[in-house]
Amino acid sequence: MNSASLIRELASAGQEQVLQFWSQLDPAGQKKLAGQVAALDLRLVAQLADGYVRNKPPAALPKDIQPVQVYPRRPDGKQKELYRRALQRGQQMLREGKIGAFLVAGGQGTRLGYDGPKGEYPITPVKNKPLFQVFAEQLLAHSRDFGRPIPWYIMTSDMNDGPTRSFFTKHMFFGYDEKNIFFFQQGMMPAFAMDGTLLLAKRDSLALSPDGHGGSLRALHKSGALADMRCRGVEHLSYFQVDNPMVHCIDALFLGLHDLTCSEMSSKTIPKSRPLEKVGNFVMGDGVLQVIEYSDLPRKLATQRNADGSLRLDAGSIAIHALRVSFVERLNTGGQLRLPWHRAEKKVPYVDEAGKSINPDTLNAVKLEQFVFDAIPLAQNPIVYTTERAEEFSPVKKDKGSDSPATCRRDQIRRAARWLTEAGVTVTMKNGKPDAAIEISPLYATTAEQLRQRKAPIHAVQTGAKLYFGANGIE
Ligand code: UTP
Repeated sequence: MNSASLIRELASAGQEQVLQFWSQLDPAGQKKLAGQVAALDLRLVAQLADGYVRNKPPAALPKDIQPVQVYPRRPDGKQKELYRRALQRGQQMLREGKIGAFLVAGGQGTRLGYDGPKGEYPITPVKNKPLFQVFAEQLLAHSRDFGRPIPWYIMTSDMNDGPTRSFFTKHMFFGYDEKNIFFFQQGMMPAFAMDGTLLLAKRDSLALSPDGHGGSLRALHKSGALADMRCRGVEHLSYFQVDNPMVHCIDALFLGLHDLTCSEMSSKTIPKSRPLEKVGNFVMGDGVLQVIEYSDLPRKLATQRNADGSLRLDAGSIAIHALRVSFVERLNTGGQLRLPWHRAEKKVPYVDEAGKSINPDTLNAVKLEQFVFDAIPLAQNPIVYTTERAEEFSPVKKDKGSDSPATCRRDQIRRAARWLTEAGVTVTMKNGKPDAAIEISPLYATTAEQLRQRKAPIHAVQTGAKLYFGANGIE
């Protein structure tokens, strides 16, 4: 785009200030800024400035909010046959190569404050393996067990794409066949000043940040990942986030239930630990399955109890989903992904009209993101399946306190101890916690059941031990 057409386009969107330093930029700077502007959908930018920045969208809570019917972790009498068939179906789909793994790792990880992609963060309790390796080993184990490599789609963003790829290359893809990994980048969204104008981070660049995990559904299409799935015969994606190493990246029963119930988007839930826990809430809102964010659910509803004392709305969302590839294709027809935008007021560094860099100490900007769970109301037959917190959820969000590396390592040890105990191994407890550091590589066992079948070569874990089960046993 030449500068005349850039000016014209930006002016039509009310954003001509983006070029205020244009005449002072060298050709490289001009090229960079022009490239960023060309990547924007300026019509959308104008709509968003009006609908989400200058004016706040009205809170759109459903009128009628009811609990959601969930599939239990263990089937009751009537469901036993369905679960048996679902497990078989899931296993069959894995043997036939119909399942792809989908990791979203494009976030900024500001709360953790780690300098690099979050997936590099060392997280296992004995070997300190990085998050990426934990997922790679799980997927390798399942590929081995089902005799078919699982294609792995990894979404990054402009903020971490290069370092993520280098990390995988440096670690020889953790043993994964490189041709079965598909890296792609999500889109970026510019930050708006409160008056709706786009902020410049530098004279030659916009203040950009990733467009939210919901942007993954657009990026899957734009990047050619969906086309790759079609070529490989992948029909479903198992979606998980980079910050939860406890996730079962592949769960044959869950994937089978998703397929057998003809669901286009399925989700795992856990009972909330407390009424105001900071997780999304699965609800039936005006008859439609959806997630209401914790910040949007009125306190009165969040704390409501049933006659037996249990929480009325207790289905927490842990960002684990199964997605039908044809559903993601459908969401992208017509060129626009019709998910709502979520508005957050932030402190965003910028350059002012005089070209001075400002690090604001008050909220000065609006960032907009899309969330993947907003696709659920658009899906046919969506289902929610219950899992256990102790088995699958301990995210790494902050450097200290709850949801930190320390709590995540503690929860990994607890799970390993439980799996061993169920396999008949004695684990000494001290103050309610295993009195040892234990790590089980997914290459040794991906579930408690698999661990039982492998017949652990010990009867008891020594007090204070550091114990690691690698692919071939204790190392
Ligand atoms: P979070 O909501 O925790 O956001 O992401 P974040 O950006 O990683 O961290 P903070 O809020 O800055 O501390 C949950 C998951 O969604 C991915 C993240 O990488 C993580 O796996 N994500 C988030 C994206 O892939 N893209 C985004 O734009 C946002």
